[in-house]
Amino acid sequence: MHILETRDLCYSYGEGISALHGVNFIAPRASTIAVMGPNGAGKSTLFKHFNGLLFPSSGEVLYHGEPVSRANVREVRKQVGLVFQNPDDQIFSPSVRDDVAFGPTNLGLDPETIEHRVEGALDLLGIEHLAERPPHHLSGGEKKRVAIAGVIAMEPQVLVLDEPSSGLDPHGVATLIEFLKTLPRQFGMTIIFSTHHVDLVPELADYVYVFDRGAVIGKGSVEEIFFEDDLIRRARLSEPALMRLVRIMRENGVDLTTGYSQQEIEDAIVALIRERT
Ligand SMILES: Nc1ncnc2c1ncn2[C@@H]1O[C@H](COP(=O)(O)OP(=O)(O)O)[C@@H](O)[C@H]1O
Ligand SMILES: [Mg+2]
Repeated sequence: MHILETRDLCYSYGEGISALHGVNFIAPRASTIAVMGPNGAGKSTLFKHFNGLLFPSSGEVLYHGEPVSRANVREVRKQVGLVFQNPDDQIFSPSVRDDVAFGPTNLGLDPETIEHRVEGALDLLGIEHLAERPPHHLSGGEKKRVAIAGVIAMEPQVLVLDEPSSGLDPHGVATLIEFLKTLPRQFGMTIIFSTHHVDLVPELADYVYVFDRGAVIGKGSVEEIFFEDDLIRRARLSEPALMRLVRIMRENGVDLTTGYSQQEIEDAIVALIRERT
């Protein structure tokens, strides 16, 4: 059974505003899934269904095989944490520490456990030094980390992040990648994220969904998606720089057998050079 799934999910914001039609989406446990597609494709609308901020106009969202409904949505929200694109929609407490404690406090945990979770989340995101600061004066990247820490402190099974790399500086993006990589391995967490940042996808994703105008227009491995010219064009994406390099080497007779993360490609190129010198 998949941890999260949608079946024929349709959603309309009102008469004539169909944001999702017939979406079938599967997230296996401890996998990392990237959701891509142009602005207005329906990514955020989909994500809001994952933890019951929206309910389908028709079709279903299943968590552990159970349809998410108004009756079980509180339970589902403990397990499926959503990090909004804009941290200002998520952060409202007077201090970073209070903000990160908000979720675990709402879960009704005892004070000792809450403190433990908050310390753990601050540490994991590298923001202990910000703990007593008022969040509204932080930089965009700092706020983003606070928002993620708040969700992590709830120890969800599924972490859903809507455009987590938007507004981060290059170092912030690199740190985010390293952080997100650890979660499935260390905690068995399932990660679903949307992004326009194509280079992030081969670093993290086991599986990619491409949306356009409320429908899935492509799904598959990183390789199946990014080596598909037509799809890339239709979805207004671009080929990640390092995948392009590997493809062009192949087209010129140098067949690197490699995965597509930066580290794997570097290792394959170094091995190739050693072999040839
Ligand atoms: N609150 C809303 N009311 C009406 N229409 C909305 C609302 N939110 C999003 N939409 C519309 O739904 C479609 C999908 O939007 P969204 O899910 O935000 O796409 P994405 O996250 O891929 O940019 C767009 O056409 C958008 O204009
Ligand atoms: Mg969006």
